[in-house]
Amino acid sequence: ETTEAAPASKTWQKVGTTADLDKTGQLLVTKSPVGPVLVIGTSKAKNLIAVNPTCTHKGCTLAWKAKDKKLVCPCHQAEFGTDGEVKKGPAQNPLKTYVAKIEGKSVLVKP
Ligand code: FES
Repeated sequence: ETTEAAPASKTWQKVGTTADLDKTGQLLVTKSPVGPVLVIGTSKAKNLIAVNPTCTHKGCTLAWKAKDKKLVCPCHQAEFGTDGEVKKGPAQNPLKTYVAKIEGKSVLVKP
């Protein structure tokens, strides 16, 4: 009997280092094993936020507005909350979110 490893897309994936994250309070990885990921927070944060930053309208990459705690699309100004929910159209569908954690000096995410 063989034990198959869980597919890479279902397990924790390293997307960067705490040093990268702490530089600006966010970490954008356009190509990770789980797809595009934007991690928001710092290594000191209790809860890291991680979403797929691809706008569900037409696919532009969202920008994180720390002051307003929302993600804004540069293309047609759709807005999303940190839970991925649409706050303002034209986008209609929520963003995919990930679970994120820090382990040692690594930032890890999981679908
Ligand atoms: Fe984001 Fe149109 S692509 S609002």
